[in-house]
Amino acid sequence: MLTGKRLFSTGSRLLKSSTSYNYDFTGLISQTGLPGSVGNTPLLKLNKLSKQTGRNIFAKAEWMNPGGSVKDRAALFIIEQAEKKGLIKPGGTIVEGTAGNTGIGLAHVCRAKGYKCIIYMPNTQAPSKIQTLKLLGCEVNPVPVVPFTDPQNFNHLAKRRAESLENAYWTNQFDNLDNRQAHIEWYLGRYHQIFEDSRS
Ligand SMILES: Cc1ncc(COP(=O)(O)O)c(C=O)c1O
Repeated sequence: MLTGKRLFSTGSRLLKSSTSYNYDFTGLISQTGLPGSVGNTPLLKLNKLSKQTGRNIFAKAEWMNPGGSVKDRAALFIIEQAEKKGLIKPGGTIVEGTAGNTGIGLAHVCRAKGYKCIIYMPNTQAPSKIQTLKLLGCEVNPVPVVPFTDPQNFNHLAKRRAESLENAYWTNQFDNLDNRQAHIEWYLGRYHQIFEDSRS
């Protein structure tokens, strides 16, 4: 489910109370957990660019997704499609080859949904991404950088690892059509918020 309570449209309000620390967090709470908070990023008006061009220019603050990047959208959609197609069952394992961002999105969704998460990534990626993935409970395999044609490429390693496990799904971001479909659904389909945001 890609709908979620908008996290950022309403700020917290100070309730009338004897204590100055009694805030109303209603507008900040996702009742649908982390998956429900994906995608509800603010639309920021870029005032300088808008003035220079004579047009309203907006930026979508995708770094404010819970995993810190736009890849959260695809991660959530791909996993939920796999669930719908019966390709992953409760307690299963998600396996992915990633440079880090898709992996972090997957790791968050896996934690929320109770899946294990195994990551293969080139060992040239930022140590902070590896640490983040480990903190999120993933098994992380940083591997030497080799061309795609090499069977030891991180992406092929992820595929083979998934094939070797029971109830495991290789999310395969590079060739999975649900990755493309995720963006169609989020930006053009029934889940998109840009038009909604820009109307208000
Ligand atoms: C050139 C390139 N490398 C790697 C990736 C994968 O990035 P990540 O796994 O960090 O989401 C992408 C996907 O956007 C890409 O375009």
